[in-house]
Amino acid sequence: MKNILILHGPNLNLLGEREPAIYGTTTLAEINTHLFSLKDQNDLRIFQSNHEGVLIDYIHQFRQWADAIIINPGALTHYSYALRDAIAAFVKPVIEVHLSDITKRESFRHHSVLEGLPNCSRILGKGAAGYYEALQSLIHQSE
Ligand code: DQA
Repeated sequence: MKNILILHGPNLNLLGEREPAIYGTTTLAEINTHLFSLKDQNDLRIFQSNHEGVLIDYIHQFRQWADAIIINPGALTHYSYALRDAIAAFVKPVIEVHLSDITKRESFRHHSVLEGLPNCSRILGKGAAGYYEALQSLIHQSE
């Protein structure tokens, strides 16, 4: 059994209506409901915030409780060194999820501040399915 913290960053509360050609039509509530349906015996805490510091506070608050984190940092991906430091300090496994393939979009999106962190892997461009894949892989990952 694992405790998994799932964090959605800025503007992801608008999923479903926000640039659907890029991010799809599934709402954040639908994604979260599906994540809960996949959790099995594991425990999930899911939060969304439009604020960098709030996301960092969640990482700190749940750093002992969580065995792993799934995070889509939204645009913070590309410039938040404070978020990178919080994820680095977490040490345990982290999966960075992006609905779109950031490497194939505008050049400012190509870089992720989480790149190179030894505890962090990523799933790109699979839409909402990327979150489900991340959860399944953490659940099935041995300790
Ligand atoms: C995103 C990609 C980011 O560049 C963008 O700012 C987002 C969403 C994604 O899921 O594809 O807000 O993280």
